[in-house]
Amino acid sequence: MQLKDVGKTAQQIKDLTNKYMIETYKRFDFVCEKAEGHYLYADNGDRYLDFYGGVAVNNAGNCHPKVVAAVQEQVAQLMHTFNYPYTIPQALLAERVCTALGYDKIFYQNSGTESNEAMIKLARKYGIDNFGPNKYHILTGKGSFHGRTYGSLAATGQVGNVLQKNFGPMLEGFTYCEYGNLADYEKNITKDTIAILIEPIQAEGGVIVPTKEFIQGLAGLCKKHGLLLLSDEIQTGWCRTGKVMGYEHYDVKPDIISMAKGIGGGMPIGAICTTNELAKTFGLGEHGTTYGGNVVCCAAAYAQVGVLLEENFAAKAQEVGDYFMGILAKMPRVKEVRGKGLLVGVQLDADIGAAVKEAGIKRKLLTTSIGTSIIRMVPPLTVTKAECDEAAAILTEAIKSV
Ligand SMILES: Cc1ncc(COP(=O)(O)O)c(C=O)c1O
Repeated sequence: MQLKDVGKTAQQIKDLTNKYMIETYKRFDFVCEKAEGHYLYADNGDRYLDFYGGVAVNNAGNCHPKVVAAVQEQVAQLMHTFNYPYTIPQALLAERVCTALGYDKIFYQNSGTESNEAMIKLARKYGIDNFGPNKYHILTGKGSFHGRTYGSLAATGQVGNVLQKNFGPMLEGFTYCEYGNLADYEKNITKDTIAILIEPIQAEGGVIVPTKEFIQGLAGLCKKHGLLLLSDEIQTGWCRTGKVMGYEHYDVKPDIISMAKGIGGGMPIGAICTTNELAKTFGLGEHGTTYGGNVVCCAAAYAQVGVLLEENFAAKAQEVGDYFMGILAKMPRVKEVRGKGLLVGVQLDADIGAAVKEAGIKRKLLTTSIGTSIIRMVPPLTVTKAECDEAAAILTEAIKSV
């Protein structure tokens, strides 16, 4: 839809939004009509450099032509079936993902949080089925973010934060451990523990990169105590960090992984992948979803994953990300630059994150701010070193202006 098609002004669209929508987001102050590659276009033709990528979603660029063609073709053919008939996009995507990642089975969901729900449910049921009714407890990291539905929210290690505050009791069965402190994890393992849930990089929690020793140590604890290693790859997956999946940086192989965001190229799809043995945990009717595995989303994801793998976007993210982090570190008021590939956090020296983000938007650069003093950038992986130079120059001006 474009303003000219609906006969409205940009201000009228903003007014309608503010009047009728429950607003939980701080909006960028423009109406976005179109996006292409790593640019967003406002109704008045202004072009914005996209360094937030729909929050780590548009990994192959906004509206990649192959993804657009796949959606257009599929949507005109078959839009929704539920999971009763066999469908071509589901089967082809399943083969492509499982083969690429070395897992046996996939289960489709609609979003990141739902994929984590599936992963948590699978781990809990596996524990209870095999070891008794109390074997469902999961260790997760303090500072983690796993989503906003009750299971994933409870797994999120940010107790008392706005995410959880005044939403009533959380799902029980999670213990929050100090991320990076192996001894704290080991101390919290009990006879009722079934799994350890990690984020290969804590993204929303401030772009916190764990050490290889720590993640390998957790994998070692899983082996020693017979626990499952669960990896939330929703933000780190699909080439974002310079590897296809984030866990690859640590030479570990999780038992179950969850994914969403980058797999769909902008269409809402998530999934879990696991082994044949664990997959048997879900029998007929024991888990399900109306839209999970939607054929249009699967067709989009099939195209998106194909592009990301064929064009080796992991290597691109690694090379461009290393360069970008190098130049960001030279900006004023920067305490630290953290990240891997093109999942990048700039820790500023004061609580100026939101102001710097706003000053960047005025200069046509889109980023996100997390916490009070971090600028997080997760651009499409199509960005070049030249665009990183441009983004860093704009950010430098933005920092100086606040
Ligand atoms: C690591 C991680 N897990 C889970 C989620 C939730 O995904 P969704 O917003 O698709 O439910 C996010 C979203 O930012 C995320 O970064």
